[in-house]
Amino acid sequence: DWTMDAYKDDAIAKIRKQVGDGKVICGLSGGVDSSVTAVLIHEAIGDQLTCVFVDHGFMRAGEADQVVTLFRDHYNIPLVHVDASATFIGAIEGETDPEIKRKTIGRLFIEVFEEEAKKIGGADFLAQGTLYPDVIESVSFTGGPSVTIKSHHNVGGLPERMNMQLVEPLRELFKDEVRDLGRELGLPDSFVGRHPFPGPGLAIRIPGQPITREKLDILRKADAIYLEEIRNAGLYDAIWQAFAVLLPVRTVGVMGDGRTYDYACALRAVTSTDGMTADYFSFPPDLLGRIANRIINEVNGINRVTYDYTSKPPGTIEWE
Ligand code: XMP
Repeated sequence: DWTMDAYKDDAIAKIRKQVGDGKVICGLSGGVDSSVTAVLIHEAIGDQLTCVFVDHGFMRAGEADQVVTLFRDHYNIPLVHVDASATFIGAIEGETDPEIKRKTIGRLFIEVFEEEAKKIGGADFLAQGTLYPDVIESVSFTGGPSVTIKSHHNVGGLPERMNMQLVEPLRELFKDEVRDLGRELGLPDSFVGRHPFPGPGLAIRIPGQPITREKLDILRKADAIYLEEIRNAGLYDAIWQAFAVLLPVRTVGVMGDGRTYDYACALRAVTSTDGMTADYFSFPPDLLGRIANRIINEVNGINRVTYDYTSKPPGTIEWE
């Protein structure tokens, strides 16, 4: 009968067979899928694997450090860490169209990744954390006319451009199985249980307004408080995804005996099994109030907090 342990051994054997003594490069995002892919491949072929972490500047608080610490220091996996934030922020500064932002970030990501791959002497294989639902979704999941809701960020196009073959050891798995495999591989719970995070990161959580480093910092702080409170309340694992969105509106407030004129932010939390549909999460009301208070008191630049009660459909999970 089927166990994750047996699946792991089988996957490792397949990777060894496919790769031989070739070189593999893997883009790390800090998410569950790419993390599990990297650790699995490293178990199979050791230092024939190099990971590349492109920091586009749209990561959450502390995330870049966590990735580097885990992979370089804990697992001793060769890791290239590129801080490309200036390039990315420069490229989408002033841009407000969601699709243009997504496409620009996707294109730049490929360019930066390609450049880094060349620097380390290239590779024969590109590893990707493609899951079974990704395989199906790219075929068509509606049955109706195919409409692009959002251009998802991935490294499509890269394997052909660089003449690499794909290694996709998670292609038969669903998200919960990837998490099981991650545990089997000894990845810490803080990684295995992580909420999904979109490729374009915080850049698609600052809708309808020019993106600046200052706004990214404001959003990062609000987001960190929100997630900290959710963890402290023991609700993190009950939620598929929770995040803050910085709204393109400033509102009047009063603080002490002064007037404030600062941004409003929206909090979102949903439950879901696969991200295709989702329900808004019902918080205990006093908790949301406490979180709003903390954000308004602790984050300079936000003086109003709202909660998003939209399910998917008709909304999507992300605002852009
Ligand atoms: P939406 O907003 O389409 O999101 O309901 C569904 C799930 O996908 C995540 N998401 C992305 N993931 N690259 C990704 O890898 C992307 O470009 C991207 N956009 C959205 C989203 O966070 C949610 O979990």
